Amino acid sequence: MDYNSNMQKTPAIVCHNVGKQFGDLTVLRAVNLVVSRGEIVTLVGESGSGKSTLLRMIGGLLEPSEGYIHVFGQSAEEARRARAYGIVFQNPTLYAWRTVEENVALPLEVIGLAKAERQTRVAEALDLVGLTDFARAYPAQLSGGMQQRAAIARAVAYRPPLLLLDEPFAALDALTRERLTEDLRAIQAQAGLTVFFVTHDIADAVFLSDHVAVLSPRPGSVRADIPIDLPAPRGPHTREDPAFLAYMARVRASLLE
Ligand SMILES: Nc1ncnc2c1ncn2[C@@H]1O[C@H](COP(=O)(O)OP(=O)(O)O)[C@@H](O)[C@H]1O
Ligand SMILES: [Mg+2]
Repeated sequence: MDYNSNMQKTPAIVCHNVGKQFGDLTVLRAVNLVVSRGEIVTLVGESGSGKSTLLRMIGGLLEPSEGYIHVFGQSAEEARRARAYGIVFQNPTLYAWRTVEENVALPLEVIGLAKAERQTRVAEALDLVGLTDFARAYPAQLSGGMQQRAAIARAVAYRPPLLLLDEPFAALDALTRERLTEDLRAIQAQAGLTVFFVTHDIADAVFLSDHVAVLSPRPGSVRADIPIDLPAPRGPHTREDPAFLAYMARVRASLLE
């Protein structure tokens, strides 16, 4: 698929009246959401509101019960087969017996890239997440934050246009999480990615996002889509900006509505 020419204007993600049931349980109802190319969009909602379910449907891993999802103008299933996604989950799921660079190279082996090309991409991805010095380390030798960096490197190494992250920093301490959140914005800009980020953390959501979609409690529906107009570059100072605090209050109010 050519993401750069004919479909330039097609949004990265369109969710149209998406509903999802598991048996009698309605998890999502009439979800509408558009993510443009090159944006970072965060979905916030309380635990059980259907965030992971929506992410999995966008990633083509689950089918909606109602409505439709388009990713770069295709079905999510087609986009998945065209390798449009990198996905990062809360648990980094690295192979303990493989070094960091071998873990990052694994998806590239699976898609059959030649060794020289794999090495180039692995080096590039490790550089992007700041793990170059740990290429030969094993996962157990890394901190939790570094393991998540490795998982991000693995997800971006085959250069997908869209990165989906499901509470990737939830298990990390507050300062590590803040630093990774800052670095994710830099990674996104450098790699020209579209990012769809799921979290229950309001500060992370506001810090990261071009807009924040607020999910109501189950059955989840997007009840607000709040543009975050904070000056770039965002850094530690951003969290002290009165505008940042005002956005946090707004997202919280919407969650509690
Ligand atoms: N495969 C499944 N089968 C049945 N119920 C599910 C399944 N996946 C998720 N659920 C239920 O859907 C609801 C939303 O789950 P989830 O999307 O994981 O929420 P969140 O990520 O916002 O915490 C929960 O009540 C969960 O138990
Ligand atoms: Mg979840």
